[in-house]
Amino acid sequence: MPDLPNGPAPADLIIFGGTGDLAMRKLLPALYHCDVDGGLAPGTRIIALSRSGLDDADYRGKVDAEVRPALHGSEGWDAFLRRLRHVPVDVTTPEGWAGLAGLLAGHEDRDRVFYLASPPLAFGPFCRGAREAGLVTPGSRVVLEKPLGRDLAGAQAINDEVGAIFDESQIFRIDHYLGKETVQNLLVLRFANSFLEPIWNSRWIDHVQITAAESVGTPGRRGYYDQAGALRDMVQNHLLQLLCLVAMEPPSRNDREAVRDEKVKVLRSLRPVTGADADRFTVRGQYTHGLVDGAEVPGYLDEPDKNPPTDASRRVETFAAVHAEVDNWRWAGVPFFLRSGKRLPSRRSEIVVQFKNVPHAIFPGATPNRLVLRLQPDEGIHLSLMAKEPGAGDIALRPVPLSLSFSDAFSARVPDAYERLLMDVLSGNPTLFMRRDEVEAAWRWIDPIVRRWEGSAALPEPYPAGTSGPAGAHDLLARGGRAWHEEEL
Ligand code: BG6
Repeated sequence: MPDLPNGPAPADLIIFGGTGDLAMRKLLPALYHCDVDGGLAPGTRIIALSRSGLDDADYRGKVDAEVRPALHGSEGWDAFLRRLRHVPVDVTTPEGWAGLAGLLAGHEDRDRVFYLASPPLAFGPFCRGAREAGLVTPGSRVVLEKPLGRDLAGAQAINDEVGAIFDESQIFRIDHYLGKETVQNLLVLRFANSFLEPIWNSRWIDHVQITAAESVGTPGRRGYYDQAGALRDMVQNHLLQLLCLVAMEPPSRNDREAVRDEKVKVLRSLRPVTGADADRFTVRGQYTHGLVDGAEVPGYLDEPDKNPPTDASRRVETFAAVHAEVDNWRWAGVPFFLRSGKRLPSRRSEIVVQFKNVPHAIFPGATPNRLVLRLQPDEGIHLSLMAKEPGAGDIALRPVPLSLSFSDAFSARVPDAYERLLMDVLSGNPTLFMRRDEVEAAWRWIDPIVRRWEGSAALPEPYPAGTSGPAGAHDLLARGGRAWHEEEL
């Protein structure tokens, strides 16, 4: 954990949605690890808000039962629990805010972070309520969880509502992929080494693949997922952010605006995929019953859920693949293939940079170099090189990996993305958060694809759970003579 410039100062971190899945699975474990690593100042409070009528003791009991078993270690756990408060809040009434106002009174000089781990429709009402209750101080920040709307117009409306209360410099739009170790290492690999830059362009690179595969399905998430689908849930944010980091020009400084300026230029250079192009350059699928890790799992429509499947469920994609092009000098003619899906054979996220073949082959059997940046499960960087197999006689070639595994190279525990991002929020560093223009540029590119899909009578292509996605995804690459990097998928 990097040291903060002057050590952390006491802050109040207010989590709206404090009993929800995100708080329990990600935020509280990350905050606990930050605490153990010395990232939270003595006196920092974590104030969970929800409509449940829990008091502090009930909430601590719930966290103790649900969060503690999944942690690495329990050193300092009781001290961490003492930081927790719970306030029942009904944002729809001014009175609902009184409990929180009482708790915050007298602490106006502290940094105050409002973390909105709630559906985006609540963002505006929450920010207005906080302001009307007099809780927004100059040292306040607000963290917005994705999805930021369902389209460009929705995102703009949310940005306007939140922007009426918080200055852009106080708004932290989170994309947790940007907090992953390999993602940050991609920037270091590109901009702290000299050997890659000369070959990081269309002259040497054939194409780039970005995959976020998950073996999990969506049990219990139908209410959200029917409205989102893989394109909005993963591609609009996580995958496009990864594409930006691969394709961006070197920023002049490692600074909040310089990095984000370069990313937004990439988003604006994406060739629009509109009308019939969307049929050619995109693929959507939905999983059906199948086998994952040897266990039978139901199809999307049969996932256990309190909401029965509707027409929206039949139409929603659990797999999306897109062929994108970045229209600029560096990347002219280099396809970027993005794909993400649920119920694929394993959980694997990676960026594959496929180089071109040597310009003149003197050895038969040489295959082009490939750089794989593995985000999960085992973070690392692997470069496949051609080498000669030992032995006399004819030269036989074999691709061999030059591998850097982060867990082998560094003995420290690899922190979860949320740990890094929460520390950045507390220290006021927005470099790894999305600026308004970035989010809107991403939606501007995604919207025409969604419109085409929604206007089509065709349903997503079925694929059995446990397979690597619909046949159309393979055809998307095969027609250019390429194939997905399937190793271990
Ligand atoms: C979230 C999506 O943003 O990312 C989920 O809403 C998805 O559907 C998750 O499962 C994947 O995150 P990770 O870090 O496990 O790859």
